[in-house]
Amino acid sequence: MNRKYRKALIAGNWKMNMTSSAVKPFVEGLRAALPKAKSCDIAICAPFPLIPALARAVKDVSRIGIGAQDVCEFKSGAYTGDVSCDMLTDLGVKYVIVGHSERRAYHGEDDFKVNAKLRAAIDAGMTAIVCVGESAEQRERGLTMEHISYQVAAAVCGLTDEQAKRCVIAYEPLWAIGTGAVATADQAQEVCAQIRAVIKRRIGAKTARAISILYGGSMNMKNAASLLAMPDIDGGLIGGASLKPDDFAAIIAATAQEQHNG
Ligand code: 13P
Repeated sequence: MNRKYRKALIAGNWKMNMTSSAVKPFVEGLRAALPKAKSCDIAICAPFPLIPALARAVKDVSRIGIGAQDVCEFKSGAYTGDVSCDMLTDLGVKYVIVGHSERRAYHGEDDFKVNAKLRAAIDAGMTAIVCVGESAEQRERGLTMEHISYQVAAAVCGLTDEQAKRCVIAYEPLWAIGTGAVATADQAQEVCAQIRAVIKRRIGAKTARAISILYGGSMNMKNAASLLAMPDIDGGLIGGASLKPDDFAAIIAATAQEQHNG
């Protein structure tokens, strides 16, 4: 992390887990386990139906931001099953994940759609967490940098400086998601540095310096500190470990540790 230019963000992605009744006990547990020092921003990206319960539960915990896992790129209308930016902001949603590999794989979201969703989200005033990542096969064939560069350039295509500053980019290698096979700190740093280089080329140096880049994929309380110590890794997008308050709090605490060391 480079704290001179960027704020750390630890975002939980609950994916299709939890129920309304489990939200309040989770937030109470997290609150009790959180470190006192506010060393990073915190977000929880919940499934749509759980967002009202999450909003109620975090009402008095201002340091936890509410997030969603997807959004429709269109304003309103005949889009059965979709949820608009206005519906999310109306509920107090501040963060939205865009282009998660599970959306890309199971819902056919391509780079064009990801770009449209990202624009809609930031124009609605939310922070868009856009996900990129290579498959195991792409890594084996030496195509990681090419693939990531393409995905990042496509995601931020046409964005102004100001719009791009409201994005966060999450590097999530597909082979590391939910597998326990976390990327090494060096592997993750190498790709995150490349992501920053693409932003510099496409948008500009100032934005590249200011934009937060997260790592995601089997990040947990044991490996968080070494990943967060890397200069271009500004936080984490956490799946499995974000479902347990103590584990999630320990990852958040790792950002304080890094600050202390740094
Ligand atoms: P895991 O932390 O469960 O590997 O999931 C990562 C992820 O996909 C977060 O968006």
